Amino acid sequence: MLVANPRAVRAPYPAELKSLMSIERAQESRLWLSPWPELARGATPLYELPDLAAKLNVARISVKDESVRSPLGSFKALGAPIALVRQVLRLHPDLDPAALLTGRHAEMLKDYTVISATDGNHGRGLAAAARSVGCRCVIVLHANVSLEREQAIAVHGARIVRIAGNYDESVEEAARLAAAHGWQVVSDTSYDGYEDIPRDVMQGYATIAAEIVEQTGAVANEAGAFTHVFLQGGVGGLAAGLASYLWEHHGAQRPCFIVVEPRQADCLFQSALQGRAAKATGSVDSVMAGLACGETSPLAWRFLQPGIDAFMTIEDGAAVQAMRVLAAGSGRDIPIVAGESGVAGLAGLLALRRDAAWSQQVGLDECSRVLLISTEGATAPAVYEELVGEPADAVLKRQAAWLAR
Ligand SMILES: Cc1ncc(COP(=O)(O)O)c(C=O)c1O
Repeated sequence: MLVANPRAVRAPYPAELKSLMSIERAQESRLWLSPWPELARGATPLYELPDLAAKLNVARISVKDESVRSPLGSFKALGAPIALVRQVLRLHPDLDPAALLTGRHAEMLKDYTVISATDGNHGRGLAAAARSVGCRCVIVLHANVSLEREQAIAVHGARIVRIAGNYDESVEEAARLAAAHGWQVVSDTSYDGYEDIPRDVMQGYATIAAEIVEQTGAVANEAGAFTHVFLQGGVGGLAAGLASYLWEHHGAQRPCFIVVEPRQADCLFQSALQGRAAKATGSVDSVMAGLACGETSPLAWRFLQPGIDAFMTIEDGAAVQAMRVLAAGSGRDIPIVAGESGVAGLAGLLALRRDAAWSQQVGLDECSRVLLISTEGATAPAVYEELVGEPADAVLKRQAAWLAR
């Protein structure tokens, strides 16, 4: 399903949004995150896929590969850690921000406890950041989070709380436990009266956009290397963080942004239809675990309503097909390990190119230059192997051979 957003505007980045998220603040987050040992030193790769572009009859397809952002396996390593740093600074403004994630203030923070719900990647990032900072961490998991994902969080020393309900119920449980014990919620989604921390999480994601601007030499207030940018949506934080940065940089010349979600977890699609942050209509359960969110983050929606040109939903099977396309590679296309939620943008592009009317609706044609963000690698390795038909290591071996040619 595709819906063009009638409320999207093509004008300079609005001042009221800039007061919440800005390039200046994103660069500060990037600087304070940079000493964290869990992050790759340089920018993540921006790969070109010329064979796939030719097959889909577009001028260019580039993929930003976030699987190598961190040993944690996803872009979420950019969100929770900086939100934790900024929250500690609210309590202790005199501390050195760049020293927090290297554990210099661990003794002072050892009795401080942070808590969050997660469908996997955010909780993994928060647990790893809490351990680096030296504070305690509690992670609330809903019924559908796999044991594999639970273990990847627990390995960082976080206490795990399992609930029987879904993601949105786990968010409520985290808020309840925090209120009962005096713990601090560090969530990637906002709710009434809780916006500063989710804003900091989203702002951290903008590091990806900053690197893209640098990697493509994009000039301010001019059209950039890409005409279309596909962004996958869970609660909307990734899309808001990246679109806000690129909108501020390119101004009225910004690219066309398209948000892609699982059909069963269509909260952003529904928000576009209703003109306000809305709930999903489906079961919310999806193979795209990171995108299986039932409620739009109202703060993210403030950026997405004016900034996103089209919203679309895809089936789980389309994500699996896209995982296989990226894993396979070809003569001129590097094989890429992209997890279930990482490929939603490509799945959306494939669906649009199969439908001439949809392509026309979003202005996709043979001149289009498309950017996809592969937001995770094989964060659930067993699931990856089952869906792709080979383990991630085998794909990485073929990737290394492709690079060595
Ligand atoms: C791999 C991956 N991609 C994309 C998203 C979507 O991010 P958001 O919930 O901020 O929209 C998530 C969220 O967990 C994720 O784990």
